[in-house]
Amino acid sequence: AKNKLWGGRFKVDTSELMDEFNASLPFDIKLLKYDVKGSLAHVQMLAKQGILTKEETKKISSGLQAVKKEIEKELAAGKFDFKEAEDIHSLIEARLTAKIGEVGGKLHTGRSRNDQVALDLRLYLREETLDLRKMLLDFMQVILDLAEKHTETIMPGYTHLQRAQAITFAHHLLAYYFKLKRDYERFGDALKRINISPLGSGALAGSSFDLDREFTAKKLGFIRACKNSIDGVSDRDFVLEFLAVASNLMLHLSSLSEEVILWNSKEFSFIELADQYTTGSSIMPQKKNPDLAELVRGKTGKVIGNLNQMLLTLKGLPLAYNKDLQEDKEGLFASVETLKIILKLYPEMLKTMKVKKKEMQKAAAKGFLNATELADFLAVNNIPFRKAHQIVGKAVILAAQKEKELEDLQKSDWEEIFDSDLKEELKVDFEKLKEKLKVETAVNSHSTLGGPAFKESQSIIQK
Ligand code: ARG
Repeated sequence: AKNKLWGGRFKVDTSELMDEFNASLPFDIKLLKYDVKGSLAHVQMLAKQGILTKEETKKISSGLQAVKKEIEKELAAGKFDFKEAEDIHSLIEARLTAKIGEVGGKLHTGRSRNDQVALDLRLYLREETLDLRKMLLDFMQVILDLAEKHTETIMPGYTHLQRAQAITFAHHLLAYYFKLKRDYERFGDALKRINISPLGSGALAGSSFDLDREFTAKKLGFIRACKNSIDGVSDRDFVLEFLAVASNLMLHLSSLSEEVILWNSKEFSFIELADQYTTGSSIMPQKKNPDLAELVRGKTGKVIGNLNQMLLTLKGLPLAYNKDLQEDKEGLFASVETLKIILKLYPEMLKTMKVKKKEMQKAAAKGFLNATELADFLAVNNIPFRKAHQIVGKAVILAAQKEKELEDLQKSDWEEIFDSDLKEELKVDFEKLKEKLKVETAVNSHSTLGGPAFKESQSIIQK
């Protein structure tokens, strides 16, 4: 077969459709710089081991750099032919040999595309993970800055999407801060396993050449070389792990997006998103839609889908390399690109949105968010909490009937609520109770570690 690295054994060329089906160049072109980087380290090691002469090493190394530049130029000019080769590895080797002659063929000494592609993917993912971590850290800072401005901005906290207890906007934002912090740490953990060198694993059984695998591992900035050549070429756990962490991050952003969408609605009116990060309707002139948040929610499905695809691709694969593994790239690349754009846009959306403090506070004052406060108050006044819970339940019914809030109930209302036997025991100080039921008092009395009290959020942010 013509133009194939492996053509020697074949009498007849592959069919055109087979070539198209088999090819990975349209997507693994992304690995260009990593493939060259890996090859340069490999060649250097071959020279050190006396497998290549100095002369050959020089020729191959400068040839590789030239080939890289040449391809980059064609790509930038839109002149690159994606049908030129089967994959990025074949492309570079063919171009190298065309440039420097037969000696180019020595580059592949002691190496297989199987350890080569595993190497490239790890180099790629290491760089992207480091970048993503930086972006995530900046994002976390934006959330922290926003929280700092809103430690006294009272809003309703929800369970079952029903108003539950009063919190602050800072307290709510800090919940996301800590979720993202764990994602940041998880990316760091994944890096420990991404950053292992498979180079020198060969096709699956290492090499009869005296390769110095620790040398190339060091040269390429890896923690160490992997300790089993079969594992080296077949392991894609590192892709799975990355995608799992990415999915987790997307789930967090999807929840936040759902809330942003709700908050931005007329019904909630807690925030107003800036024009730059919203879109309009082609028919309804009044619309300002939260598309960015909606897309983040939508793209979460894609990233999780990519994780699922990878799990399914790997399921039941025998060792070592199988061509199924070529399917490890597109979903990964797409997920990385999605995360990168989201991590750039999202902080901007948060920074530019208007926070409607008054609306938040108004919502927190209505809907009996202080019912637990009242039950606690009764409990402190020696009524067993269960009983107190029942009494407050009655109070809520009565207040709802009279279209009042709990703090507006009169002495006569309370007499109606309390059991006759309790009336005797309880001498309620209604002034005290009113104060206790104020939303601000309620928030600040919840001063447990990690709670919504103004001071507590402030001290968490300071740390
Ligand atoms: N394009 C291939 C991939 O992405 C490179 C490895 C090919 N190895 C092989 N034995 N055919 O996985």
